[in-house]
Amino acid sequence: MVANLQVQLAKQRDGMPDAADFRVTEAPLPRPNPGELLVRSVYLSLDPYVRKAIRGDHPGHTKLVDGDVIYGRSVCRVVRSHHDDYQAGDYLVAETGWQQHAAIGVDKVVQRIDPAAGPLSSAIGALGMPGLTAWGSVERLGKPSIGETLVVSAAAGPVGGCVGQLAKLRGARVVGIAGSREKCDLVTKTYGFDACVNYKTDGWEEALTAACPGGVDIYHDNVGGPLLNAMAKHLSLYARVVMCGRPADYHSKDFQGVGLGPFIGRRAKMFGLVVYDYEPDFDHYLKLASGWLREGRLKVKEDRVEGLQNAPAHFLKLMRGENVGKAIVAVGPEKA
Ligand SMILES: NC(=O)c1ccc[n+]([C@@H]2O[C@H](COP(=O)([O-])OP(=O)(O)OC[C@H]3O[C@@H](n4cnc5c(N)ncnc54)[C@H](OP(=O)(O)O)[C@@H]3O)[C@@H](O)[C@H]2O)c1
Repeated sequence: MVANLQVQLAKQRDGMPDAADFRVTEAPLPRPNPGELLVRSVYLSLDPYVRKAIRGDHPGHTKLVDGDVIYGRSVCRVVRSHHDDYQAGDYLVAETGWQQHAAIGVDKVVQRIDPAAGPLSSAIGALGMPGLTAWGSVERLGKPSIGETLVVSAAAGPVGGCVGQLAKLRGARVVGIAGSREKCDLVTKTYGFDACVNYKTDGWEEALTAACPGGVDIYHDNVGGPLLNAMAKHLSLYARVVMCGRPADYHSKDFQGVGLGPFIGRRAKMFGLVVYDYEPDFDHYLKLASGWLREGRLKVKEDRVEGLQNAPAHFLKLMRGENVGKAIVAVGPEKA
């Protein structure tokens, strides 16, 4: 029997997840039914939304029970195809879950990968869903003009890093907010932002004011919670706020919500962003972004770990906000 390494749910819990919530185990190699594909995972994407998906608190995901494979997307390679549109050797991004092999219906295929577009792993980063999220924020919602100031939180991550770099390509002044000195160095020295403020240091709001002398015209919020509240007083009049994610609220029982008064005072326009709205624009985005990546105008940073058995620990690191760059698990070789 060829074994299939999987990560299953061992325990549902509220609040911060724990290593004991996951079980790494072997299952038999799955057999694809007629119309299905057998795929082998190459790079597993670890994303903040998975925390909510496990609890059934995310669109399209039912609450997992003990023994279910953890939800997740991966860059994968088709091993055997029972569908005319796919062939062995094709690379895809698909909903495989956290396992080495998966038998999937074609409705679980998220995108086909053109290996010439960029490094394969970028299909779950800058050339995939996080990049498209950033593109939707910058091109469809925030739309910074030349000289306007855009601020983005979780700026070292795949969404935040792309938001800032795409805004710079439009001529904006870009300031990141991130949770460590190492992250801020990445944001300014590699991504090329104009400035970055570590919000875990004393005096960070004064530093933000100094970095944004005319106020914040666009704020892309990746964090929610108290940081979103704090940002209200830094907005310029008629600012745009793109609300993208709220990991600060995932585990906390104490957070009292966002005070909307200051946003009214600033006459701010607030947008909720859902990346699915931009799926029809994906081919257009991919063409642009793969060119920028090749030319070195779009930079990426991965926080990569080897081996599926290390996925739970790497996911917990993401949940603690300790990832520096796109959190990825290298599950198996790209070829072979
Ligand atoms: N709306 C959509 O359609 C959509 C699509 C994709 C992603 N998203 C959201 O976009 C955001 C960024 O995604 P990403 O993949 O680029 O993530 P990421 O930046 O790699 O990781 C999340 C980051 O959030 C920050 N953070 C702040 N408070 C946190 C807390 N209490 N717990 C954990 N992390 C905390 C941490 O950075 P710092 O240390 O710098 O604070 C952490 O590294 C997430 O909120 C995600 O859910 C939304």
